[in-house]
Amino acid sequence: MNYMDQLNEASEFILKKLAEKNFSRPKTLVVLGSGLGPYADTFQDSLKLEFNSIPHYKSPSVSGHSGELVFTKIGNETVVFQKGRLHYYEGHTDHEINFPIRSLKLAGVENLLLTNASGSLNPNYAPGDLVCINDHINFCGRNPLHGKNIEIGPRFPDMTEIYFKPFREILSDIATQKNITLHHGTYFHVAGPSYETPAEIRMFRNLGGDMVGMSTVPEAIGAKHAGLNIAGIACITNFGAGLIDQKLDHEDVKHEANKAMEKFTTLVSAFIERLHA
Ligand code: HPA
Repeated sequence: MNYMDQLNEASEFILKKLAEKNFSRPKTLVVLGSGLGPYADTFQDSLKLEFNSIPHYKSPSVSGHSGELVFTKIGNETVVFQKGRLHYYEGHTDHEINFPIRSLKLAGVENLLLTNASGSLNPNYAPGDLVCINDHINFCGRNPLHGKNIEIGPRFPDMTEIYFKPFREILSDIATQKNITLHHGTYFHVAGPSYETPAEIRMFRNLGGDMVGMSTVPEAIGAKHAGLNIAGIACITNFGAGLIDQKLDHEDVKHEANKAMEKFTTLVSAFIERLHA
C-alpha cells in the first residue's frame, strides 16, 4: 500500500472512532513535547487512541513520549493532543515522523501547535521560560520532504512564514493578559541524540539560534507543506552545553518541562479557546 493510501486509511479509522463517540472532526492538533504529555490527561471527557491501535502509526521509544492521541472538546471544536512524537534519532524516517500530522490533516485538522523541550542558546532565556518559536534553522542535514512529493502539498513549499504570524500575536497577547513571560526566538534544529558540545553551542548561537532541540522542525516543514497554520512553543529546560557549569541529562530535561507545566497549560488552553471562540 502506498503512503497516501496508508494516510487515508489511518484518517478514516480515526474519523470512525470519533463518530462513535459523537466527536466532530478535529480542527486543531497540539503536539506535546518531552515532559509536557501529562497535560493531555487533565480532560474529563476525552477519547484516547493509542498509536499502536491506529493503522500504520509507529510507536515512539523514548521515555517521556507515550504515543497516544487524546481528543477532547475545547470551545466549539474538537482538539487532538498528540502525546509523544517520533524522532529521527530513534531510527524513524521523516515520513513516519509526519504520519500522525498528515493523517490528522486528512481528518480535518487546520491548525497545529508544536511544543517541545529545548536547550537555551540565549543567556536571557533561562530554564523554565517559554519561548514562542518565530522561525527556525534546519541544521539536521536533511529535508523531511526529500523524495517523491507527497500529494498533500506542493513540490516546493514556501517557508517564509512557517510559524503563522497571527498565531504568534495571539500567543503574545495571551501571555501579556495572563502575566506569563513569553520570549520570542529562532529554534535551531539538530538531529541528536547526543547533546551538543560547548563549541557547537557557541556556533549555533553565532548562527542566530535562541534555543536548540531535536524535534519540531521536521514536523513544521511537513505541516507547512500540507497547508496547516502553525504555532510553536519551546519550553526551556536547560542552558546549552558549556553556557553554565552543568552536565546535561534527559531526566533533568523532563523534570524542568514538568515544572513549567502550569504556565504552559494556561497559555496553551487560552490559545486554543481563542482559536475556537
Ligand atoms: N540540546 C538539544 N536538545 C535539547 C536540549 C539541548 O540542550 N534540551 C532539551 N532538548
